[in-house]
Amino acid sequence: MNMPVDQQAIERDYQIKQQDYLELYQSSLEENDVFWLEKAKTLEWMKAPTQGFEGGFEPGNVNIKWFADGVLNVSTNCIDRHLVQRASDTAIIWEGDSADEDKHISFQELHDEVCKLANALKKLGVEKGDRIAIYMPMIPEAAYAMLACARIGAVHSVIFGGFSPNAIADRVNDCQAKVVITADAGRRGTKSVPLKANVDAALSNNACPSITHVLVFNAVGLDVPMGSVDVDAATILAECDSHCEPEPMAAEDPLFILYTSGSTGKPKGVLHTTGGYLVYAAATHKAVFDYQPGEIYWCAADVGWITGHTYIVYGPLANGATTVMFEGVPTYPDERRIGQIVDKHNINILYTAPTAIRALMAKGEFAGEGSSRESLRLLGSVGEPINPEAWHWYHRVIGNSRCPIVDTWWQTETGGMMITPLPGATEMKPGSATNPFFGIEPELVDNEGKALEGATEGNLIIKRSWPGQARTLWGDHERFEQTYFSTYPGNYFTGDGARRDEDGHYWITGRVDDVLNVSGHRLGTAEIESALVSHPAIAEAAVVGYPHDIKGQGIYVYVIPVAGTEVTDELSKEVVSWVRKELSPIASPDLMQWTPGLPKTRSGKIMRRILRKIAADDFASLGDTSTLADPGIVDTLIENRMNRG
Ligand code: WTA
Repeated sequence: MNMPVDQQAIERDYQIKQQDYLELYQSSLEENDVFWLEKAKTLEWMKAPTQGFEGGFEPGNVNIKWFADGVLNVSTNCIDRHLVQRASDTAIIWEGDSADEDKHISFQELHDEVCKLANALKKLGVEKGDRIAIYMPMIPEAAYAMLACARIGAVHSVIFGGFSPNAIADRVNDCQAKVVITADAGRRGTKSVPLKANVDAALSNNACPSITHVLVFNAVGLDVPMGSVDVDAATILAECDSHCEPEPMAAEDPLFILYTSGSTGKPKGVLHTTGGYLVYAAATHKAVFDYQPGEIYWCAADVGWITGHTYIVYGPLANGATTVMFEGVPTYPDERRIGQIVDKHNINILYTAPTAIRALMAKGEFAGEGSSRESLRLLGSVGEPINPEAWHWYHRVIGNSRCPIVDTWWQTETGGMMITPLPGATEMKPGSATNPFFGIEPELVDNEGKALEGATEGNLIIKRSWPGQARTLWGDHERFEQTYFSTYPGNYFTGDGARRDEDGHYWITGRVDDVLNVSGHRLGTAEIESALVSHPAIAEAAVVGYPHDIKGQGIYVYVIPVAGTEVTDELSKEVVSWVRKELSPIASPDLMQWTPGLPKTRSGKIMRRILRKIAADDFASLGDTSTLADPGIVDTLIENRMNRG
């Protein structure tokens, strides 16, 4: 779809104009340290940094440090420094799952709640450097928990509320968390998620011996059983003071771990540190949204993902923004909800994912009914490529054809936005993330690592460090180097492919590894496969993605039954619920094909390329199948393929 876009977006005196972008970008590369040390000044430091970047990407010695001699505390930057002039201004607007519930939390209240919780954690024996798992619904207490950890120097690891007990236990054990912060249950649309029961299941049979306490908030009024490690949050908070001295943190002290899926093995504990991360979160939030004081900003993500960390909590609060936190889902009670929330809270900036946009778009114009959305001036997209149809619909129906869209490409590992338009400074191109952010130096390379020039398509790498970059994988620096710095030595490999057009603008084409992006959720095929083969009826499994209208990618599963198993519809259903239970409902297979075999090379390697093509109904170009151990299996697979419908 190639419709013209009105480039005359809402009239506004944007901070950064087109010419400025080009000049600023050049100088951000030429004088990289100067550029970032200047940005660092927008934060409040206990000791201001004098050093910019130190280290490098050399194989065997990947080492990344920013602002290393600086000392600061993230929570004072997000809260205390705004108290002087804005104590009673709203920091967080919470919109409940049900449309008649909301709350405004001022910076003063945020301060008091965070300090009380920080003191409660101290009472439970938490010290600087300890890891704390946060498994919470989208309620303000989730943000309090993150900031309370930051205040005392504990390292949080938020676990998405949609993960199952096994996934919780894996993460808790990997980082040896001391405390879990959770709630009785969470609400999402018509569903209730039994968070406390899931934590109980994760901890049962002494499966997580590092945990000393589970702090339980009462979110929905469920009467949950309390065991010996459980602590009622309301009770302990009532005894805690609303003053808590912030811990002075070195810029390179860890701030949080966030687990994300890779192409192999278990999820990786991506580690972000204090100074560089916050500088990058604040700088990108300010520039990409052109955020101005007093504006109401809504990032409709979940705090369980990096988008929620950087652009619901840390970036906006560091900039003193009013940030909206939404407990529910965009389609509940129906598709008009997003517009209604925008009107209710006079939201100026809306940042969401293509999958949500496509879910609303499926109902035509309905999502725009019953709201004017006149307060909006800017829209954002994140998490997956946005198809031009969805872009145009978002622009027209949600944005009344008046709001620019920033399509922001980035990753858990990058900490913040990397390739993105700047409103007012970048021409809008539906489907293109356009330009690198300041200080970011992307390059496209072929499979051998040779740099590609001009208009081209290739693998996306980043040639130099930026402050928001992940520093390591928790407990496994070798895997960090191996995953990101060994494919194209001396460069950070993103795992994504991209195209560059004649204007030099980037178009992200998606993952080039075995990572799926399902409804904007990143999932490793290996994780899903391991959940599948743990089922007693399954001997072997291979998982690939296929194009899906709403989810972006759907999950296509090939399974070989254990000999003698009778394959029935019942069994298929059971396997689907098994995966939901073992891993997460977000990993639920969309299509499942039972097969006697898989296409393997003579050395036993599964040829996923073939499986991907069959799943996508693309049989014309299967490529050379003669090297397969059993070429006949391909015809069997094609004959019995599941209909995408
Ligand atoms: C994909 C989410 C195209 C990409 C912030 C990346 C995108 C992965 C975009 C990271 C975008 C994210 N256009 N693709 N604007 N944003 N992606 O770690 O494949 O959950 O590698 O971080 O999402 O997902 P993650």
